[in-house]
Amino acid sequence: MDSVSRHYEAYPYPARDPADEATRLITVSPGHPVEIDHFLFGGQRDWLRPFRVLVAGGGTGDGLIMIAQMLADHGVEADILYLDISVASRRIAEDRARARGLTSIRFETGDLLNAADYGPFDYIDCCGVLHHLPEPDAGFAALRGALAEGGGIGAMVNAPYGRAGVYEMQDALRALAADDEPEQQVTYARALIEALVPTNGLTRNPFLSDHANGGDAGLHDLLLHSHDRPYDVDALFGALERADLAFVSFATPGRYDPRMMLADPVLRERAGALPYQQRAALAERLVGNIKGHSFYATAKGTTAEIAQPSADAVPVLIDVSGAALAESIYKHGVIRGEIDGSGFQRRLPKDAAGILMAVDGRRSLDDIRRVIGWEPKRFNDLFAILYQPLNNFGLMRFSRLKRGSSRS
Ligand SMILES: C[S@@+](CC[C@H](N)C(=O)[O-])C[C@H]1O[C@@H](n2cnc3c(N)ncnc32)[C@H](O)[C@@H]1O
Repeated sequence: MDSVSRHYEAYPYPARDPADEATRLITVSPGHPVEIDHFLFGGQRDWLRPFRVLVAGGGTGDGLIMIAQMLADHGVEADILYLDISVASRRIAEDRARARGLTSIRFETGDLLNAADYGPFDYIDCCGVLHHLPEPDAGFAALRGALAEGGGIGAMVNAPYGRAGVYEMQDALRALAADDEPEQQVTYARALIEALVPTNGLTRNPFLSDHANGGDAGLHDLLLHSHDRPYDVDALFGALERADLAFVSFATPGRYDPRMMLADPVLRERAGALPYQQRAALAERLVGNIKGHSFYATAKGTTAEIAQPSADAVPVLIDVSGAALAESIYKHGVIRGEIDGSGFQRRLPKDAAGILMAVDGRRSLDDIRRVIGWEPKRFNDLFAILYQPLNNFGLMRFSRLKRGSSRS
């Protein structure tokens, strides 16, 4: 068994208790079906058509359970393959699926390098896996090879700057405990962390608490990986290029706009004039808190259409309620969002609250405009201002998932 397999046999990640399925559904990004529709199918996918999904390196099942449950909730005919090298992780994912009575998932223990043997797939999810492979390029290529015509990938790879402090600690533990068993390594890692001096890089990074507080499995995943190759924006674009994949979008495009981090008008203008990849790379360096890149990609030559506001587009709020946003506008005149210490604040007129109250995931923009009784120009102008920050930070997408067919 190689070191990555040993790691996940000892510490299935993330640690999950199948009993918790009775009380909550964990939602993640990428991989939310509404988001998949938005970035890969123009927000207009016909959900009456079957959907073939691969969850590559599915771990203990967060992304898997979310997509299977949401597709089941909306009556989508789904065929979902879970693929992972870790038997211990698979058992947990299977128990979670059983607890929910999900029947659309097939479980396989195996290497994602063989993904094409099981495909092709309309959507491939691969979160937190590619950076752990001994040869990540082979992983990117394997996913590309398993895509169906017109299909797409949603993935997350670790990123360096937001994980400041992690890599020197990985090296330190390699120097001190490389040959110990995983359980002993965790004991040493905990001892090391508990006595860290205030000047240490990990002590100074406040945004890693989810892993560091995630029990032994979280600690092992953070500090004791045998392969952990972070990707900055340029490295990610390079890997996609080599695998014949085309970048579609980051899941939270707003985090990759350097103008969010620049006040000087000349510098803002220069940043805005850079080609997209350079702009995103600059933003990553300036903001400093991006721990992983969550992105969507397709096979080169396929043009995925990112959804845009239009009369028949159906807006869906994700992990936030229209009522809560509307209340914030009424009380404070703003909507706000935050990810790891950086975010947005957008001032909006009170009228915008009415739009948000009418967003129910089923109504199209034209339906909403009629419900609130506005003229198209007034509606479109205000919706554009409202939509931009919500989409940039992952709170609003377009999809007809809740309506079923593309034209219903
Ligand atoms: C950090 S976990 C992520 C799990 C899950 N995708 C999530 O986001 O919660 C990484 C998973 O990738 C799996 N993995 C690592 N290398 C793999 C490979 N070559 N093929 C399939 N799975 C692999 C590990 O066993 C582990 O379960």
